Amino acid sequence: MSDTRREEFLAFHRPSIGEEEIAEVADTLRSGWLTLGPKTARFEEKFAERVGARHAVGLSSCTAALHLSFEALGIGPGDEVITCPYTFPATVASILYTGATPVLADSLAGYPNIDPESVAARVTERTRAIVPIHFAGAPCEMDALQSIADGADAVIVEDAAHALPAAYKGRSIGSIGRTTCFSLYAGKNITTGEGGMLTTDDDDVAAAVRMRRLHGMSRDAWKRYSSAGSWYYEIHALGFKYNMTDINAAIGLHQLDRLDEFQERRVRLVGLYNEALESVPGIRLPEPPGEIESAWHLYVVGLDPDRVAVPRDQVIEMLREDNIGTSVHFIPAHHHPYFQERLGWREDDCPNASALYRSAVSMPLFPAMDDGDVIAAASSLERIVRENLR
Ligand SMILES: Cc1ncc(COP(=O)(O)O)c(C=O)c1O
Repeated sequence: MSDTRREEFLAFHRPSIGEEEIAEVADTLRSGWLTLGPKTARFEEKFAERVGARHAVGLSSCTAALHLSFEALGIGPGDEVITCPYTFPATVASILYTGATPVLADSLAGYPNIDPESVAARVTERTRAIVPIHFAGAPCEMDALQSIADGADAVIVEDAAHALPAAYKGRSIGSIGRTTCFSLYAGKNITTGEGGMLTTDDDDVAAAVRMRRLHGMSRDAWKRYSSAGSWYYEIHALGFKYNMTDINAAIGLHQLDRLDEFQERRVRLVGLYNEALESVPGIRLPEPPGEIESAWHLYVVGLDPDRVAVPRDQVIEMLREDNIGTSVHFIPAHHHPYFQERLGWREDDCPNASALYRSAVSMPLFPAMDDGDVIAAASSLERIVRENLR
């Protein structure tokens, strides 16, 4: 047994759910109004205010937010959407749902975010949207991407699943792209259990998304069972069942109140990791480029294959033996068999993304960790790397 092994398993992630969230859920259950309703509306208002957007629309997931962004923008068969493979498969799947063709631009050489030069090289007359993913909460180079989008007559749909709260050149993520799509999944910086939020300044897009999240029903159809409502509705578009529920919004209302407290804690824990690991050879610290403030959703180190003599997967196994939970973000989209078969993608299509993936280890990072947890996780990683240096 190693001398850095922890007694208790340190999970990769644990959500911070307090008594306020629990009481609000109980209140919702007692209220008799369980699904889309007044608490979702309150949560949307608070969320929009927080990120500085005109509209926030509560949805069942970030995947739904991406899909409805494309639907609302009229993107479909024959159109191309440029995105980056360094993401969760949902980004690519949501483009395919519409019948449009996803086109991959590579990551930057030293960081998983999309490389604007690679985007520019992939623009065609069919390009309708660019979808940057703010990896680990670090905003992409939005000015460069916006000028490429403007030149191509395309729009930006941001995959901000990781990026609450984050800022690019002082502007809050959620207030920049035509739409911005946040995830409120259990593992995200704030959670509603499952959920997503779409923000936009575009009144027409917001109305189209609101309609399509609930079957394409005429406006405010959710009120039809309240005293303010009417039984009558009309279908005005092909819709989906993508609405948020008030049970989920009840959790989100109080998570949002705690966002600054959570973020302060994340920044401190990242500082501790950096201090503990900066002088360890063979480890590349996460250093997002640009004039940004990261949400620090993830702490992903890179193992230098020229210095660390064991494969990344074995390092993860050794961390598990030390009782440290880890993960890998992400298996790039062009490595997945389904996308390869359907779209003809190959593993050498995006070399920067592939190289980053092969060296990546995501360390535990969540606000309920104490300083000692970070020290223990960093000590294990340091021991494993030092014992296996070339
Ligand atoms: C980058 C990215 N995009 C999209 C998603 C999808 O989010 P959701 O699970 O809320 O649909 C995730 C979820 O992990 C993600 O990490």
